Amino acid sequence: MDLYDVMRTTPAVREFTDAPLPEDVLHRILDHARFAPSGGNRQGTRIVVVRDQGTRRRLAALNEPAVRRYVAQAKAGQSPWNPLEPPSPSAEEIAATAVPEPFTRPLLTAAVVLVVWVDLGLVAATDQDLDRIGLVAGASVYPLVWNLLLAARNEGYGGTITTMAVAEEPAVRELLHVPDRFALAAVVPLGKPVREVTRLRRRSVEELATWETFDGPPLAASSPGQDSSVR
Ligand SMILES: Cc1cc2nc3c(=O)[nH]c(=O)nc-3n(C[C@H](O)[C@H](O)[C@H](O)COP(=O)(O)O)c2cc1C
Repeated sequence: MDLYDVMRTTPAVREFTDAPLPEDVLHRILDHARFAPSGGNRQGTRIVVVRDQGTRRRLAALNEPAVRRYVAQAKAGQSPWNPLEPPSPSAEEIAATAVPEPFTRPLLTAAVVLVVWVDLGLVAATDQDLDRIGLVAGASVYPLVWNLLLAARNEGYGGTITTMAVAEEPAVRELLHVPDRFALAAVVPLGKPVREVTRLRRRSVEELATWETFDGPPLAASSPGQDSSVR
């Protein structure tokens, strides 16, 4: 596929056929994904490829506490799990919230589940002293995760970045025998999509980029008064 087509048509795939993901295809996907950048090229990402159904069931179960909070907050009109506002639903309300299948089923039905870790001894987290949640460490692992989903799309496969199990990181670490210095970045079910989605709803360039300052004019296809060349 053309690169731009892949970039514009790689959705979150949560429904999979029974088709296997052949080992050589998985290897090719990862062999291309590994060219993603990381801070200082330290390459601290490690991936555990899970096929075992018992392990998947446990991973799916470990999603549940975070999903309950996600769903309860969404129902209450909040942006779920955002770091600026504590959940408005009570702990009891969260505990009583049902877990919708789309949050757990993909882990059971995908051809494989990739559990992605990053070595905290290798990330350069330049925001670690700021008085806000850390972001930069993730930038040394998520480019590779997205690369592998783009490569999967190119091969006719698909998957989703999922992060609910991260809230239960210690239990996932124990389950997969992962050393303490590694942080859980994502759990990615990967398989053959049931249907092809080709239209993604995303903000326009004008809505996401401005010239010169945050409150500057939007970067339009051709903004009046703007030099169209970027030097
Ligand atoms: C950081 C991150 C975390 C996500 N976590 C989950 C998750 O835990 N479960 C899930 O089903 N989807 C998860 N997603 C998928 C998003 O819901 C999805 O990318 C978004 O809704 C856009 O979907 P679309 O590409 O099909 O339009 C996550 C995506 C990102 C980037």
